[in-house]
Amino acid sequence: MPEIKLDSRLEKISRLVRLDRVICDVGTDHALLPCRLYLMGAKNITASDINDGPLKSAEATIKKYLGRCENIRLVKSDGLDNIDFADEIIIAGMGGDLIGDIVSRIRFANEETRLILQPMSKAEILRKRLYQSGYYLIDEHIVMDNAKPYLIMQAGYNGEVSQIDDYFAYTGLVKDLYSLWLLKNRLKRAANGCRTAQPQKAESLNAIAQRIEAYIKENGEKV
Ligand SMILES: C[S@@+](CC[C@H](N)C(=O)[O-])C[C@H]1O[C@@H](n2cnc3c(N)ncnc32)[C@H](O)[C@@H]1O
Repeated sequence: MPEIKLDSRLEKISRLVRLDRVICDVGTDHALLPCRLYLMGAKNITASDINDGPLKSAEATIKKYLGRCENIRLVKSDGLDNIDFADEIIIAGMGGDLIGDIVSRIRFANEETRLILQPMSKAEILRKRLYQSGYYLIDEHIVMDNAKPYLIMQAGYNGEVSQIDDYFAYTGLVKDLYSLWLLKNRLKRAANGCRTAQPQKAESLNAIAQRIEAYIKENGEKV
């Protein structure tokens, strides 16, 4: 069988997964990750997607790399709506708002549940949604792929609904100075873009950018 090659993003995710759990890869598309997880020893994997095209592609990937595999179930589902249970849930390669929406609809979360989330955008919306839905952040990782940083979050569930402030929503647990520098620049650009139409918003974005700048200055000097 050919070797499964993953990009650094999926490679990192594969190393975070608890293989002995009931795993679900939501929005699996090509299903390369579930195939790798199976080869790493996972026995109970669901690969789900909302669209038929990706599910067909997932089927072809499984056939190509594993032949027949009864340990990976393919399920058509919007988020986890058609999934009975999973306690190791991966949602990667989608916008943070969509991931937040999917997470907020999970019916079977408990204290054993772990989420591995990889938003392509709008991480601040996702962080707010996590805390509003009874989840909390455990860790955040930055992985570089083709000189671009990708964010990977790990979250747990305690059922406590809470609100987070805007600074934490934007920065979370990220300590990587390059990613923070990119974020600070993005916030400054956004503030500039809305300074006439929404001066209050511009002020609050600038305040967050300045706080990030101070953090980078303080911690950059220690490196
Ligand atoms: C860009 S691909 C990401 C594939 C893979 N997870 C990765 O990170 O490489 C996004 C996939 O999510 C699926 N998707 C989008 N919305 C979804 C939803 N609400 N529920 C399940 N899957 C969804 C799409 O059909 C698509 O296959």
